[in-house]
Amino acid sequence: MAAASAGLDRTAAPTLRVDGARLWGSLMAMAEIGATAKGGSCRLALSDEDREGRDLFRRWAEEAGCSIVIDSMGNIFARRAGRDASAAPVATGSHLDTQPTGGKFDGVYGVLAGLEVIRRLNELGIETDAPIEAIVWTNEEGARFAPSMIGSGVFAGVFDQAEAYATRDLDGKSLGEELARVGYRGEEPCGAHPIGAFFEAHIEQGPVLEAEGRTIGAVVGAQGMNWYDVELSGAEAHAGTTPMARRRDAYLAAARVADRLAAIAHAHGPHGVATVGQVQVFPNSRNTVPGRVAFSVDLRHPEADALAAMEAAMARALAEICDPVGIERRIERISAEAPIGFDPDCVEAVRAAAQALGFEPKEMVSGAGHDACFLASVAPTGMIFVPCADGISHNEVESATPEDLAAGASVLLNAMLERAGRAA
Ligand code: GLV
Ligand code: MN
Ligand code: MN
Repeated sequence: MAAASAGLDRTAAPTLRVDGARLWGSLMAMAEIGATAKGGSCRLALSDEDREGRDLFRRWAEEAGCSIVIDSMGNIFARRAGRDASAAPVATGSHLDTQPTGGKFDGVYGVLAGLEVIRRLNELGIETDAPIEAIVWTNEEGARFAPSMIGSGVFAGVFDQAEAYATRDLDGKSLGEELARVGYRGEEPCGAHPIGAFFEAHIEQGPVLEAEGRTIGAVVGAQGMNWYDVELSGAEAHAGTTPMARRRDAYLAAARVADRLAAIAHAHGPHGVATVGQVQVFPNSRNTVPGRVAFSVDLRHPEADALAAMEAAMARALAEICDPVGIERRIERISAEAPIGFDPDCVEAVRAAAQALGFEPKEMVSGAGHDACFLASVAPTGMIFVPCADGISHNEVESATPEDLAAGASVLLNAMLERAGRAA
């Protein structure tokens, strides 16, 4: 998918390239940890598999000469020293945790592309002015502990650390306890770590780059994303003896709400999206009408006003569906991330690096949430996207080519180098 554009003067431009085969090898080795039958990975945040992945990253980073700092949220900072030890580092990174049926690349690519940048700088004997850091952010996915991007969110001051520690998974285990159990509750206060600029490389997780035959996305911002916990309470009843007209079936109401949410998303198309991804039915018995249902809602839109309108429409739908049949409803918004724009200079650094390598980048807005979205509020930030097959992500079949992954990491290398300054 190389989109070398004719007419670019590449003679004066930085054209360093990473070792794509080494990057691919590291990605495949990391994917073995929590490997799933269908070719993906399952490393839920702060599980034993997540700990193993972190330990491997840490070992690789130490072998590459990095010093390691772990903060109180378990975020890992691997630093390659620069000439000016007092300068804030130019950092990159993403996450090693995955969805339950996750792929090999979502998040992992951004972490290991950062490691590859450090390995390549070592190999080339390049000293930077500012230090270079590769970061692992804790619990980006939000699959085990909601909300998502909790490590970078506490770092950016968006979430409170005590509340983050108290967040529990479906088995009742708290994030704080699990962080200590896996040995990653570090000493440095979360948020104290200086960052001069931040770049995140990631697979696109959507179909645009592939459809347009492009290799690099220069990400200018990310859409808004709201998460909710909804609980509907009706009445448990005998499945054989309770006439349909007398039921207060909480699951039936939840299904109707899910259907309305899809209609609300369509009404705010083409960008509005709505997802019910987690559902718990109580008592979860075949022959008892469900008395209670708890479910998650994920609403997203690139425009804040449209996202607010989707939320209001959801509240109306809940009332219309539940009230006439005597179902009690409780809705809590557990996170609200407004649409954001990345730093124009960082976006330009990505664009220039891509062009110098012979790619015409596509300007795009991220549909997914990323740690970079929170970092954008504390440091100049940019993102690099590379294509993934059929735009599929959050799926074990998630796939990307070694060539595209190497291209994105090379863009990252040159953008970071431009920002950090080259001492020798
Ligand atoms: C991150 O995985 C998201 O849900 O966008
Ligand atoms: Mn991700
Ligand atoms: Mn993800």
